[in-house]
Amino acid sequence: MENTLFSKVLVTGADGMAGNYIDFGIKTNRRSMDITDLREVLSVCRKYKPEAILHLAAETDVDRCERDPEYAYLVNGIGTYNMAIAAKELGAKLVYISTAGVFDGTKEGSYIEEDVPNPQNYYGHSKFLGELAVKGTLSNYLILRVCWMMGGGPTKDQKFVAKIINQIKNPNVTEIKAVTDQIGSPTFGKDLISAVKILIGKNETGIFHASNTGIVSRYDVAKFIVNTLRPEVKVTPVESSYFNLDAKRTKNEGLVLKKNIMRPWEEALKEYLETEWKPVFNKI
Ligand SMILES: NC(=O)c1ccc[n+]([C@@H]2O[C@H](COP(=O)([O-])OP(=O)(O)OC[C@H]3O[C@@H](n4cnc5c(N)ncnc54)[C@H](OP(=O)(O)O)[C@@H]3O)[C@@H](O)[C@H]2O)c1
Repeated sequence: MENTLFSKVLVTGADGMAGNYIDFGIKTNRRSMDITDLREVLSVCRKYKPEAILHLAAETDVDRCERDPEYAYLVNGIGTYNMAIAAKELGAKLVYISTAGVFDGTKEGSYIEEDVPNPQNYYGHSKFLGELAVKGTLSNYLILRVCWMMGGGPTKDQKFVAKIINQIKNPNVTEIKAVTDQIGSPTFGKDLISAVKILIGKNETGIFHASNTGIVSRYDVAKFIVNTLRPEVKVTPVESSYFNLDAKRTKNEGLVLKKNIMRPWEEALKEYLETEWKPVFNKI
């Protein structure tokens, strides 16, 4: 039953960090289906007739989105609308992965599903546009908000974990810097895909937060990585202003989950480092 269900799921962005953990269904990437090309989207979806679409494809480079908002809107807004149109035509469920970056980061405490979005950069705006496209087009949808994706290992990870490891793999590095004034809820892509399976399996609909549990600063995550891989390296706390980035980062991307579908971030990060980074750390 389960195998039949997931064999009929079409996945976009299957070559990305979260897509790395997909072990089911019809996997597509930019070459086989460009989500910004409506004709191609419809043609591929009509060919496979999925019962659900797991839409992972996105422009996730927050600074690129800030430099080129039209491109961010094209991929994350229109691309998602295209997937919603295809899902509607086929009567398929659409699972859209959104971000804690739809919130403005000013809340005291962590964000719940019902909090009102108020994005502060173009990545956040474009992903929120994607949420609106999904909600405005379909009733059979899941919007899963996540934060600080971890996953894909040395070949695919381009985010925070890889950035820290790329610094400390250099034996000459004795100190790195990490910010203390940004908090969030890290999300292991492998756990996210498990949560997607649970929610599809239970035929849930609506908005769910799906990060690993716990609220932590970038500094805390960096310290955890360093302690696991090269404990002799010093992690010096700095403020966000130390790094001159194109896109404004919000101070608070902490998420709480209405459904208990994810484990604590430390367990997830430990597994990610132990299984995907430690075995190759001395060779990268
Ligand atoms: N990464 C994070 O920290 C984070 C945080 C919150 C939410 N999310 C969301 O989680 C989802 C999965 O993220 P991820 O971390 O797995 O991202 P990722 O590693 O950047 O993967 C995204 C994939 O989308 C593909 N893609 C981009 N433009 C496309 C297009 N026009 N047509 C088809 N495919 C296209 C990319 O292909 P190319 O490699 O060819 O560009 C890439 O393989 C995304 O919706 C993202 O917005 C991510």
